[in-house]
Amino acid sequence: KEDERQQMRNALDLAAKLYHYVLTSTEFGKRARRYVQERRILPETVKEFQIGYAPDSYEFLLSFMKKRGFDEELLEKAGLIASRETGSKRYFDRFRDRVMFPIHDSQGRVIGFGGRLIGDMGPKYLNSPETSLFHKGHHLFNLHRARSPIRKEQQAILFEGTIDVIAAWQAGIQTVIATLGTALTEEQARLIKRNTDTVIICYDADQAGQSAALKALDLLKNQGCTVKVAQMPAGLDPDDYIRRYGGEAFKEEILAGALPYTSFKLESLKKVYNLQDEDQRMKYLTEAIDVITDLPLAIEQDHYLRRLAEEFRLSLDALKEEQRKWKIRKK
Ligand code: GTP
Ligand code: MN
Ligand code: MN
Ligand code: MN
Ligand code: MN
Repeated sequence: KEDERQQMRNALDLAAKLYHYVLTSTEFGKRARRYVQERRILPETVKEFQIGYAPDSYEFLLSFMKKRGFDEELLEKAGLIASRETGSKRYFDRFRDRVMFPIHDSQGRVIGFGGRLIGDMGPKYLNSPETSLFHKGHHLFNLHRARSPIRKEQQAILFEGTIDVIAAWQAGIQTVIATLGTALTEEQARLIKRNTDTVIICYDADQAGQSAALKALDLLKNQGCTVKVAQMPAGLDPDDYIRRYGGEAFKEEILAGALPYTSFKLESLKKVYNLQDEDQRMKYLTEAIDVITDLPLAIEQDHYLRRLAEEFRLSLDALKEEQRKWKIRKK
C-alpha cells in the first residue's frame, strides 16, 4: 500500500514534468505557449509553478507512462487517466487540451492538477478527482510556497482562482493561496489558521463570488481569524485587475481597502434592499441591528450602531431601543 502511494507520487511527478516539457519545449505546445503569453504569465512564472500543457489527445500521457512502466490501474488511481466500460475497459487521458497547474501538498509534492481548457470543448476548469493523495477540501493551492511568507507577514490572501494566485505571485505578492474549485471548507480554514490569524478574502465581484465570500468569512471567523473582505470592481477578478493596473495598485487600492467583518456584512446586506424605498430601508436597518447585536464586544456594538445612526440620520437612542427589543425577541 505504501509502495502504491509512492508509485502514484512518482507518476504524478513525472506527469508534471512531461506536461511542463510539452508546454515549454515542443511543437505540440505552441498554441498553449501563445495562450499563456496572452494571459501575461511570464516564462519564469511558468517555470516556478511548473505550468504545463496536456495535448489534445486521448492517449498522449497514457502511452508515455506505459512505456515508463506504470500500469493503467495505478494511473487511474492517481487521477491521471480515466476509463470507460464499453464491453472491455478502455483507458484514456483525463486532461486534454488544457493548460496544467500542478497542485502540491504541504511538503511540495505533486498530488493533483487543475487544468484550464484552451479551446471550448468542455468545462473551463477540470481538477484531478479525489484520490488517496488528493482531497480537494484538505489542500490549498500554493500553500507550500506561500507558507513562509504568510507566517512572516502574518497575513494570508485567499483567492477563488488558480490564475489569481499566479498573477499576484508574479506581481510580488507572495502570501497568496486559493481553494481548489470548491467552497472553502472548515478543514481549509483550520489549515489557514495554523499559519496566520489574519486573512483577506479576495473573491470575484460577481454574485457567486460574493456569496462564497460571506461563507468563507464566517468559517474563518469561527476559527478565530481576523478576516477582511476585499472589494473588486465589477467585472474584474484579481487576475484581470493586476494585469490591468499592476500589483502596487492591487495592494494600495484593493487589499488596503478591504472591509472588516462587520462592514462587509452590512455592505452586502445593503445590496439586498432598495434603500431609497422607506419600507425596505427599515427592513435593512432591522437586519443591520441584528448583525450588530450578534457582535461579542459591547464597544464593537456601540461603534457600529453609531455609524448606522449617522449614516441614516437616526438617533442612537432609537437604534438602541430597537436593539433592546431585538434581544427580548431572541430570548
Ligand atoms: P479564467 O477564466 O481562466 O480567468 O478563470 P478564473 O480563475 O477567473 O475562473 P472563475 O472565476 O470562473 O472561477 C474561479 C475558480 O473556480 C477557478 O479557478 C476554478 O478553480 C473554479 N472553476 C471555474 N469554472 C470551473 C469549472 O467549469 N469546473 C470546475 N471544476 N471548476 C471551475
Ligand atoms: Mn479526506
Ligand atoms: Mn467567477
Ligand atoms: Mn475569476
Ligand atoms: Mn479570471
